[in-house]
Amino acid sequence: MPPERPTSGDKVLIAPSLLSADFVRLSEEIADVASAGADWLHLDIMDGHFVPNLTFGPPVVKRIAGCTDLFLDAHLMVTNPDELVPAFLDAGVHAISVHQEASTHLHRTLHQIRDGGAMAGVVLNPATPVETLTDILVDCDYVLIMSVNPGFGGQKFIPSAVEKVRRLRALCDATPGAEGVLIQIDGGIDARTAPAVVAAGARILVAGSAVFGQPDRRQAIDTLHKALREA
Ligand code: DX5
Ligand code: ZN
Repeated sequence: MPPERPTSGDKVLIAPSLLSADFVRLSEEIADVASAGADWLHLDIMDGHFVPNLTFGPPVVKRIAGCTDLFLDAHLMVTNPDELVPAFLDAGVHAISVHQEASTHLHRTLHQIRDGGAMAGVVLNPATPVETLTDILVDCDYVLIMSVNPGFGGQKFIPSAVEKVRRLRALCDATPGAEGVLIQIDGGIDARTAPAVVAAGARILVAGSAVFGQPDRRQAIDTLHKALREA
């Protein structure tokens, strides 16, 4: 049974980014965040072209899918993402996001993802305005707002992302058929930055350094939830 898809509402999901895990102990690291209360596992796929860094690809993701029941969310930081979508669907991920900046035929790519049974997401770099998605929102299950320039973990949160989340939420709510689109945020999310992005409308928080980068992952996830409760 695949993990249940989130719908909408007020629940905030925590998606630890594997980028900050110890790569020689992947299965232990994944089991650790699963038992610590992670909702999704965020997989950063980098090709060395779209971003100046390389990570891992479909064969590694397939092995990950075989060792966890966590909801797997692939963030494709690659050029020509449509060429790789089938391999990630086959690897067993539950959600795939592609960059608006890397997609020439975004409508086709999103439907390729949905037709393969996964949630379809679009990612916006810090310089890309949310209004560029006006005509494609109804074809998205989620939109990922980058709050750092993609490519590396541990970067500083870009504050203008908060206003982008707010504008995107308003745009989704005003677009018939897009009211259920979820907003994800990625980059520099921790107990200090999470409350403002959630207040603006983000519901899926990607956190690398703030979860995998901490020795006690349960405490790290609890710290994020606590910061949101106390905000
Ligand atoms: C950056 C990646 C992020 C990264 C976040 O390109 O998309 O998912 O792992 O790391 P932190 O939370 O450390 O900023
Ligand atoms: Zn990411």
